[in-house]
This record gives sequence, structure tokens and C-alpha cells, in this order.
Amino acid sequence: MKISQNTKKLLNNQIVLEANAASSYLAMASWCEITGYVGAAKFFYAQSDEERSHMLKFIHYLNNIGGNATIPATKSPPNSFKSLESTIRAALNNEQLVTKAIYAIVETAQKEKDHSTHTFLDWFVNEQVEEEKKFETILQKFDLIGRDKIAIHEIDKILGNLVTKD
Ligand code: FEO
Repeated sequence: MKISQNTKKLLNNQIVLEANAASSYLAMASWCEITGYVGAAKFFYAQSDEERSHMLKFIHYLNNIGGNATIPATKSPPNSFKSLESTIRAALNNEQLVTKAIYAIVETAQKEKDHSTHTFLDWFVNEQVEEEKKFETILQKFDLIGRDKIAIHEIDKILGNLVTKD
């Protein structure tokens, strides 16, 4: 199968974004663990694993269509945060950037009549809806429950319960 240089570049760039997301969430998980946010740490460790699995999907797809995936260096993420809320806000911003990048590849695939890449990206388009919704809903909790110690403890528990696997 023939893939355009442009699409190849965009897919390789997406590998970078997913790898950076995995390391950002890992840094958030570690900060939460050190800070004593047990539930949030569990949540962000799982989130980091998810991003690694997204990265792998792009690597496999690119290799399967003869595009040669490039494994990137990841940039060092922030390792400390102002508050639990600020980690969630940063995560939402990151997901919004990822959504834009996915849409840009979809639009290129449409223009190039690259049906295979377009179909492959369907899963990611839906995933991004879920991801943004998830972080928006968590952010709302700070307005709904509060920002004092008891409220944060409650939100930490909620985050831990969002993780289905141990
Ligand atoms: Fe891979 Fe959360 O976007």
C-alpha cells in the first residue's frame, strides 16, 4: 500500500504526541503518588499506559502500511504541579491538542483519498471525544464538590475508582 510522505510525517508526529502524553501522565502520576493522592496516582498511571497503547497503534499501523515508524525521544515533562486540579487542567489541554492533531491527519487522509488511514483514525476520533469528556467531567468536580481538603480527598477517591484494572 502506498502512503504519502505528508501522511507518513503526520503519523510519525502523532507517535511523538502520544509518547509525550504517556510521559506527561507518568510525571503527573508520580507527583500524585509523592503528594499522597493515591487515587489520582492510580488514575494517571493507567492513563499513561493508555497513551503508550495509542502510540503502539500508530507504530503498528505505520509499519503495516510500509511507512516505517520512527521511535522518538520524549521531551522532559513538568514534574511538579500546583494542585491536583492543575494536573487535570493540563491533561485536558493536552487532550485538546491531540484531538486537533488527529483531525489534521483525518483531513489530509480525506484530501488524499487515503481510505485506509481515514478508517484507522475513526477509533481515535471517538477516543478523543471520550478523553476530553472524561477530563472535563473531572474538572467539574472541583466546582461541584469544592477545593478544600475534604473535597480534594473525595475527588482523589473518585479518580481512583475510574480505574477498572489494578
Ligand atoms: Fe492518546 Fe489521550 O490521547
